[in-house]
Parts: sequence; C-alpha cells; structure tokens
Amino acid sequence: MIKDLQALYTSVDGSKHDYIVSPSILSSDFANLESEIKKTESYGAQWCHIDVMDGHFVPNITIGAPVVKSLKNRVKTKLDAHLMIENPLKYIPDFIAAGSDIITFHVEASGDKTSDCIQMIKNAGVLAGISIKPKTPVSVIKDFIPLVDMVLVMTVEPGFSGQKFMTEAAQKIKEVRAFVKEDLIIQVDGGINAETAEICREYGANCFVAGNYVYKNPDMKSAIKGLLG
Ligand code: DX5
Ligand code: ZN
Repeated sequence: MIKDLQALYTSVDGSKHDYIVSPSILSSDFANLESEIKKTESYGAQWCHIDVMDGHFVPNITIGAPVVKSLKNRVKTKLDAHLMIENPLKYIPDFIAAGSDIITFHVEASGDKTSDCIQMIKNAGVLAGISIKPKTPVSVIKDFIPLVDMVLVMTVEPGFSGQKFMTEAAQKIKEVRAFVKEDLIIQVDGGINAETAEICREYGANCFVAGNYVYKNPDMKSAIKGLLG
C-alpha cells in the first residue's frame, strides 16, 4: 500500500532501521527550529513530528501549516503532521499544500467525516494516519485501519509534552497489531523514553515520537540511537 516503504525507515545518511524515530518539535527551541531538526537528522531521526493544536480539541495552541511550509525543503526528515484540531477535513488541504509527508488526524475530531479525511490525504499522495486518545477504544477505528498507512496510539492525553506515559493506553498497540497487514506503521506518542519505547516495541509499535526525551536530553545522539533499535 505504501509506495516507498523503505525510504520511511532510512536515515539521511542512508542507513536503514527497523524502527522510525520522529522527534516532536514541541520540545525544541522554536527560535532555532531548522538547526534543532537538523541535529536530530544528523543523529539518524528519519521523521520530524509537528504537533498542531488549536485550543479547542486540546487545551493548548501551537503551530500551523505555515511552519510546515517553511520547513519543507529546508530539512531532509519527513514532515509528520499530527493534527490535534477540530474539523480536520477543513484544514487538511492546507497541510497537504504545505508539503506534509504524513498527515495524522484524530478520529474523535473527524466524526462522520473520517473516510473523507483519509481519502483527501491519500488522493494527494500523502501518507494517512489516524489517531486515538488514551480513552478511545481500538474498536472505533477498526473499519478504517485497512484504509490508512499509520495508526497513532496516544499514550498521554494530547495537549502537552513532558507528561507521564500511560501503560494502559499502550496496551492498545497489541490490539491494533493483531488486526493488521504487515506494512502498517504503528506510531506511539506521549512519554516515550528508552524504557517506555521498549514496552511499546514489544507490543508491536514501530514508530516512536519523542519530545522531551530527545530535545531536552543532554545526550540527544544516544537517545535517538536507542530508539532506532
Ligand atoms: C502531545 C503531543 C506529543 C508531545 C510528546 O499532545 O502529541 O507529540 O509533544 O512529548 P513527550 O515525548 O515529551 O511526551
Ligand atoms: Zn504528537
């Protein structure tokens, strides 16, 4: 289903990995965003996670499509947009136009427009991800899993970086993995560090988002290396 699956797992130096690391820029120094991302890139991170929050779906406001557009062609990592916004269907075109490589939206926000959101993303040749908050059961996305490239299982309540990993929420990774086709990417986001990533790896996740653990780490290189597996 994914055209160039291998490329998603390949670091900018050409090395291939079994796991994808997508550092969340929410924990980076926004005044030096380009160089911050390039640092993660040089240590092997394949993606760059962009947390988009609207102050409605989550109680925080962050950044939007213009930031994705500015980063396009400036960094080599894939631009992984995580939309934590109401009415994703209305804004997905902006994130497509901005050059996102992966667009993930929340099923709690898309309502009866979930299929339309997936179609819109896929028609543009962009990878489509669907996400569930910690209290949302996997059954809600069951019918959509065959249609998407990625499922994002949140292991904190979306809204802020630096929160504590919720082990119960991570259990859902197993359920998603049990459903699926091999090439589905299962991304996990929230409270990820060396220890919690290991738990998620065992459950079947293969893409790790990490904010504080990467960007606030005095040894960013080892942090990324460990997550890459
Ligand atoms: C939370 C965001 C996460 C967050 C992760 O709503 O979706 O991507 O930045 O930060 P850490 O890894 O610090 O929990
Ligand atoms: Zn996120």
